[in-house]
Amino acid sequence: MNNNAKVTLVGAGPGDVELITLKGLKAIKNADIILYDALVNKDILTFAQSNTPIIYVGKRFNDHAYSQEEINNLLVEKALNYGNVVRLKGGDPFIFGRGSEEIDYVESFGIKTEIIPGISSALAVPANQGIPLTKRGINTSFWVVTGNTKDDTISKDLVLASQSSATLVILMGLRNMSTIIKEVSKYRSGFTPMAVIQNGTTKNEKISIGDINSVDEIKKTIDYSSPGIIIVGDVVAEHPGYFDEEIQRVLASAEISL
Ligand SMILES: C[S@@+](CC[C@H](N)C(=O)[O-])C[C@H]1O[C@@H](n2cnc3c(N)ncnc32)[C@H](O)[C@@H]1O
Repeated sequence: MNNNAKVTLVGAGPGDVELITLKGLKAIKNADIILYDALVNKDILTFAQSNTPIIYVGKRFNDHAYSQEEINNLLVEKALNYGNVVRLKGGDPFIFGRGSEEIDYVESFGIKTEIIPGISSALAVPANQGIPLTKRGINTSFWVVTGNTKDDTISKDLVLASQSSATLVILMGLRNMSTIIKEVSKYRSGFTPMAVIQNGTTKNEKISIGDINSVDEIKKTIDYSSPGIIIVGDVVAEHPGYFDEEIQRVLASAEISL
């Protein structure tokens, strides 16, 4: 058994390598072994020592390298054998990242833990596109909600948030987007601006922008193999391209009615 057994949970940030914290980078350099997730930008791993073992344990839709139970066990086993395990997760490990479950499991073996927060995609991805999640005079809160619940139903929080003026930031919602937007449209006007941003903060970043009424058009642009967030709310109109898109939509609907 290694006397330095420890698990350091590190948030890798939203995608852009430079959006990891200095503390996170330092932890990677000092790691005895690294376990990393699918949404971590692999270029971050080049900051590890050249002899540090690195294991991919990612989970993407229909493609799970390891189950959550296996990951928990690996963390314990590797800490006991190697010492300091850096567990690298996309965004912030405590936002829809199962970070706290992993910490609980590791601590139940008496192994030390440390948490290094990361910049969540929920905050950084809209900001990188010039969409403010709050703006004075427009809204007074934003809700970060999952679009994919355990039992495949719409989250009750999403229903509540839809009834407010909050900006909705929906993670893991691309596959359920039609159902989600149908629910939101029970409470918000069809002209409410919305956007889908995929691969945010990376060189493959892509945005589709429109309003609730144009959800079917937005859906056609989605690449289901890439991560994406849905943003709904008047703040989306602050995006530099919003009004150009709006003009295109108005012209297209005028052509249809001529
Ligand atoms: C399991 S959650 C983990 C979130 C992560 N802990 C965070 O704080 O960003 C994964 C979801 O985050 C969103 N996501 C993560 N990185 C993203 C990115 N670069 N661009 C767009 N969405 C992203 C997507 O909705 C994806 O399905």
